[in-house]
Amino acid sequence: MKRRTFIKAAAVTAVLPGVEGRLPATAAPANPIPPGVVGQPLPRVDGPAKVRGLARYAYEQPVHEPLYLYPVTSTTTRGKVTAIDTSRARAVHRSVQVITHETAARLPQAAGPDLLILQDPAIAYHGQFLAAVVADTPEIAKQAADLVTVTCETADHDTELRPDHPARYKPGPLNGGYPPDSAEGDVETALRTAAVTLDQTYSAPGYHHVPMEAATTTAIWTTAGGVDHLTLYDSNQGAAFLRSMLAPALGLAPDQVDVISPFVGGAFGAKTLPRPHHILASLAAKAAPGRPVKLALARRHTFAGTGYRAPAFQRVRLGARHDGVLTAISHDVVQQTSRYSDFGEQTAVQTRMLYAGANRSTTHRLVPLDVSMPSVMRAPGEGPGSFAFESAMDELAEKIGIDPIELRVRNEPKVDPESGRPFSSRLLVPALREGARRFGWASRNPEPRARLKDGWWHGTGVAAASYPRPPFPQSSASVRALGEGRYEVGVSAADIGTGAWTILAQVAADALQVRVADVNLQIGSSAQPFAMPAAGSGGTMFWSDAIIGAVEEFRKQHGRTPPTGATTTATPAKDPEQDRYSMHAFGAQFAEVRINADTGEIRVSRMLGVFDVGRIINPRTARSQLIGGMTMGLSMALHEESVMDNRYGHVMTQDLASYHFAANADVEHIEAAWLGEPDTHQNRLGAKGLGEIGLVGAAAAIANAAWHATGIRVRALPLTLDKFLP
Ligand code: MOS
Repeated sequence: MKRRTFIKAAAVTAVLPGVEGRLPATAAPANPIPPGVVGQPLPRVDGPAKVRGLARYAYEQPVHEPLYLYPVTSTTTRGKVTAIDTSRARAVHRSVQVITHETAARLPQAAGPDLLILQDPAIAYHGQFLAAVVADTPEIAKQAADLVTVTCETADHDTELRPDHPARYKPGPLNGGYPPDSAEGDVETALRTAAVTLDQTYSAPGYHHVPMEAATTTAIWTTAGGVDHLTLYDSNQGAAFLRSMLAPALGLAPDQVDVISPFVGGAFGAKTLPRPHHILASLAAKAAPGRPVKLALARRHTFAGTGYRAPAFQRVRLGARHDGVLTAISHDVVQQTSRYSDFGEQTAVQTRMLYAGANRSTTHRLVPLDVSMPSVMRAPGEGPGSFAFESAMDELAEKIGIDPIELRVRNEPKVDPESGRPFSSRLLVPALREGARRFGWASRNPEPRARLKDGWWHGTGVAAASYPRPPFPQSSASVRALGEGRYEVGVSAADIGTGAWTILAQVAADALQVRVADVNLQIGSSAQPFAMPAAGSGGTMFWSDAIIGAVEEFRKQHGRTPPTGATTTATPAKDPEQDRYSMHAFGAQFAEVRINADTGEIRVSRMLGVFDVGRIINPRTARSQLIGGMTMGLSMALHEESVMDNRYGHVMTQDLASYHFAANADVEHIEAAWLGEPDTHQNRLGAKGLGEIGLVGAAAAIANAAWHATGIRVRALPLTLDKFLP
């Protein structure tokens, strides 16, 4: 492989926690990169440490004489524990300790129902933690956990989501703070009087995050002078953010807790909030003062223990004129939540702003079931919502007999239809046009089931995508002069595999007008200034804003030649102009599929996404994010499905053999492009979020292509082969 200058420059100097000293200097640049590194495809600064096995993840931190934790989980779905016999477990080895609801430290009620584990005998879902077994080795802990005998009283349970479930209710604000319902005009009358109408229901199964690194944490509880202190080496999406939520749940002040998370092996939403396993490890560490406790959840534990996307039923009704102009837009969502606490995904919220249309209505309803709490997962809201709504738009185009791109262009709003605010930028139509050009859309024959080649039906499809700027508060960052023109820049950001280590160094280098080599970036610890987590596709924009603002403040205070040690920590003010705009990323998804005429097997031959994601900081990591999202969309379209066994109330597909996530062999040709106009309303850098938009609309584009190939409209994900057989 040909080495290019920027490759040399990158490997240079990041000092990564968990790696002894600096990365090797073998690739030191002959010609250092001048300021202006934002926009350049630097390779990941943490890449060499990762491939050499030097990057230490939460479980691998070298700690003194650790104990290993294995959880005991409930096989009852609803009921209570009547007895726990730990004698056989404790007989396995002298190091075995078992912590149960009878022996665990008490937690404050502030923890909330999801985190109040080992506090009472109640069982609210299958897989709930009932005890923690710790021992000198993971093998002893697991063997001992198998020998803990739990006796339960069992009550009837209900884990089955049905769209007409009598217990469904209108929840409070949805994830992101959105109201559950919206209404404008008279949608029912508009539907009755429309020239063309569509009324269809789409369904999607539950989904689990399945990051490569399952949930892991190492907890160290110490007490000095009567004051408790907890250190967690933990895998999460934001160390300071996690601490701010976890400390009160344990009855501790934030400064009694340190969270250290330099490397995270994927997250996808599973690692945003504190989870029961954080509490379990902390309680076990408290019961074994001075002994670090290591916990790595087994894959199967994560199917009840770290959140998931709730299955969804979505009814979409559209009314339109013969020319395709929408007159009625209605989107009703039913999803499940746990009986003990609610989480409402914002599934139909994008429908409120994506297209113009005088009469509009959206609703979200939840059904409380005996299941664990759903949570944020891979483009919460936009992910499943876009499958239903962008499938419906394709069906409407078919009914009217116009091109699906043209249908979207005809309903392009001038301002945000819901808020009436102008868009800070909106390149949806240019993305559709550019995508059409690159994809070869012009030569497409709109007729379905018209292209049979070598026993395979071929078809193409399109869908639109949008993803909002998350409504987060501003993040903070610090800048410190290290002397000789070098600077330390700190922000409690997380690199969950996205490239944050790399791109934030680029942002800091440009802000400071120094080389990337002269920036010592510090992220991944609660010791750094508070920042919002890597969630809602907001990481880069909020962390960059904090860094750029902190550098401005630093220069104001200390000038261009600051004394060594000069330090500034700042939370840059929010741009007050922001409230005047509707702020989103946009995109156009294209897919080509082929479906075997005899077996129904579906293959995605080609995916193209063209995205309006603002300024690109690093084309290499940006592309990786976008094609990663598109791959998740493909995975959602074809493979992923959390299957609930309602007899026993547990997810049956609790390993990566039965819960298949798209692998290399499932992705044939995938291409992401961007229009890349900076949007400086969204932040100082002009970047828009690109972590999740790659997923949005991708499943709809594939389902629409599958219809074009076969004439069969599949409205229930995933698109398994049985759905294409007569
Ligand atoms: Mo992401 S699902 O917004 O953590």
